[in-house]
Amino acid sequence: MTISERLHISKVPRHVAIIMDGNGRWAARHGSVRTIGHEQGIEAVRSTVEGAGEIGIDYLTLFAFSTENWYRPVEEVNALMSLLVHAIDAETDNLMKNNVRVTVIGETSKLPEHVRLKLMGCVDRLKNNTGLTVIFALSYSSKWEITEAARKIASDVLEGKVNPDDINNQLFEKYLSTSGIPDPELLIRTSGEYRISNFLLWQIAYAELYFTEVLWPDFRKEDLFRAIQAFQDRERRFGLTSEQITS
Ligand code: IPE
Ligand code: IPE
Ligand code: MG
Repeated sequence: MTISERLHISKVPRHVAIIMDGNGRWAARHGSVRTIGHEQGIEAVRSTVEGAGEIGIDYLTLFAFSTENWYRPVEEVNALMSLLVHAIDAETDNLMKNNVRVTVIGETSKLPEHVRLKLMGCVDRLKNNTGLTVIFALSYSSKWEITEAARKIASDVLEGKVNPDDINNQLFEKYLSTSGIPDPELLIRTSGEYRISNFLLWQIAYAELYFTEVLWPDFRKEDLFRAIQAFQDRERRFGLTSEQITS
């Protein structure tokens, strides 16, 4: 039996989020420059998206570039931007064929104009697809997203559209960039780092966390399936007792 056949299809998470880390270390281990690691990371994205579609995941959020990543050396930032453009050119047809929809969360106004337009073109072309939704977090940080939400709520209060007494979890979520998308049940981080790095802090409040030593460029759909298998072996209690869950 293959690993994907061993998964309980009825218990596949609807939403999986991944912090794709370790490209630089992969490159160093292969005696290459960091950019080569990022290039190799695209193959990992391709395989993971394919695997997610195969087992019926609805949403896959991929952390591709953080707000903090803007402070990397300018050559690396530029290389990442051109890689993004190349990846969109190379992959959009295939995503279309596989009925994949793409959306983006993050401060996209910070992206160079040509990159932003390319991205929006891809999102637009795939917008009527009904299969897996891949959400790219680009120029994203969770504190930015939560602060933005707070700002918009404050402005709606000032305009009389929101009553402060009505601000609760459900209302707050509507102001996040993930509005309408179920929270990720599973968060994966590659490369043996054990931190969240400002990613989806609100949305992962009750996610299962899975860390793997695999460097992102080596990650394949089988690694995704392994993470889901580990997820399926866990008991999610949401504050209740085990007896309450199983009875
Ligand atoms: C992840 O790999 C890709 C981005 C953050 C853009 P890194 O570039 O962080 O690789 P390491 O962590 O230095 O190995
Ligand atoms: C997190 O990885 C951001 C992305 C994967 C895009 P980083 O490599 O930037 O995070 P830190 O620096 O290890 O926290
Ligand atoms: Mg890193």
